Amino acid sequence: MALQRPKGTNDLLPDGSPKLEAFARASAHEWLIGKARGVLERAGAQRIDTPVFEEAELVKRGVGGSTDIVRKEMFTVYYFGDHGGYVLRPEGTASIVRAYLENGLKQLPAPLKLWTSGPMFRAERHQKGRYRQFHQVDYEVLGSADPLVDAEAIALMVDVVRALGLRGVHVKLGSIGDPEDRERYNAYLRELFTPHEARLSDDSRERLARNPMRILDSKSAGDQELLQDIGVRPMLDFLGEEAGAHFAQVQDYLKDWGVGFEIDPSIVRGLDYYRRTAWELHAEGIGAKSALGGGGRYDGLSEGLGGGAVPGIGWAFGIERLLLAVEQEGIELPRAGGPQLYLVALDEENVPLAARLAAQARAYLRAEFAYRALKPGSAFKDAERRGAVWVGLIGSEEAAQGTLSLKNMQTGEQRTLAQSELGSLTPPNG
Ligand code: HAM
Repeated sequence: MALQRPKGTNDLLPDGSPKLEAFARASAHEWLIGKARGVLERAGAQRIDTPVFEEAELVKRGVGGSTDIVRKEMFTVYYFGDHGGYVLRPEGTASIVRAYLENGLKQLPAPLKLWTSGPMFRAERHQKGRYRQFHQVDYEVLGSADPLVDAEAIALMVDVVRALGLRGVHVKLGSIGDPEDRERYNAYLRELFTPHEARLSDDSRERLARNPMRILDSKSAGDQELLQDIGVRPMLDFLGEEAGAHFAQVQDYLKDWGVGFEIDPSIVRGLDYYRRTAWELHAEGIGAKSALGGGGRYDGLSEGLGGGAVPGIGWAFGIERLLLAVEQEGIELPRAGGPQLYLVALDEENVPLAARLAAQARAYLRAEFAYRALKPGSAFKDAERRGAVWVGLIGSEEAAQGTLSLKNMQTGEQRTLAQSELGSLTPPNG
């Protein structure tokens, strides 16, 4: 058998490929990123791009040593003679905060809004909607702890979803408090789970020792059953005064702007850097992998990476997940258009002329040409298969007179056009 792509990865393919689903369509990725870019740049966000591999230490300290991502899902990068100190990035936030610190972006007016998009890597068990290489659109705001920034970030996430035309999406909002609130919550969880230690999965027994909160987002069915059985109080019950006031203000702003949300008291998120506001966007009908995206505040991350105190907040969408939801809701995706002008020579000696005229026409439109001479009947069939709008035939007569015999494949209109007037062609589908 011929070689295949690694498990859990997708090729992003051209339109018209057989059995093509939206999440593997390159044009759909482009479309989605374009919509997100529009929303984010209109709100003042600037593009940033960081390497796809980073020091393992950055991810460990950023994402957190007790997370599944760091403990089980890292792709280590080796090169000849190397000891493997690099990993493929599993997410974008730690890298963006690193880049902010390293490049002196603190000098720019705060809050600084940044966005990026690109591949992320997690060695998870692959299934539909969960891949080992997937893509995110990511938005980060650095330099402000104001709840107004939290509310704006959530509202922008909803705006992106709206720009895509998605309707069945819910914001699940929670808060995971300040570090001292989380310590109290972890103490409570430790006490609660210790008598049931024998029922916990091996992973969760370790979580109990290191960071009991991580048991709550365990993927083990047995753990989830235990959680149901013993009834766990949510993190929200443990919020301190300041985190509680911050959370209340975020909600007030969202209500004021008419951004719908529901409180999810049990939200914990799968990364360790979060503080205070945390949320996820979920879609109806895409099954268990319904999280389209998530985000939260991470005011301690910069210090954890060895920088000064820089408050921050952000979110990321999974592009493949969003496209699954887009397909599920039956939203029509724009397809790559065929040529607006398709030039076909009727005899071999005019093929180079067709090529030259196509090159000239590209100043105005999408223009292609047939690489071999065709008879008119075959030319029209070929043009139809390619989705062409105008077909321009060049036979010996047209070549001698400096013209094209044009046919509009959509309206059937036929006319003669001087080769020097290609610029006057404005096809209906732009
Ligand atoms: P996350 O919740 O780990 O957050 O990932 C965000 C989104 O990426 C998920 O909701 C999901 O749509 C998508 N995603 C995650 N893993 C996979 C996978 N294996 N296959 C397909 N899609 C996946 C973060 O990554 C944070 N950096 C978000 C953030 C930014 N927080 C603050 N700033």
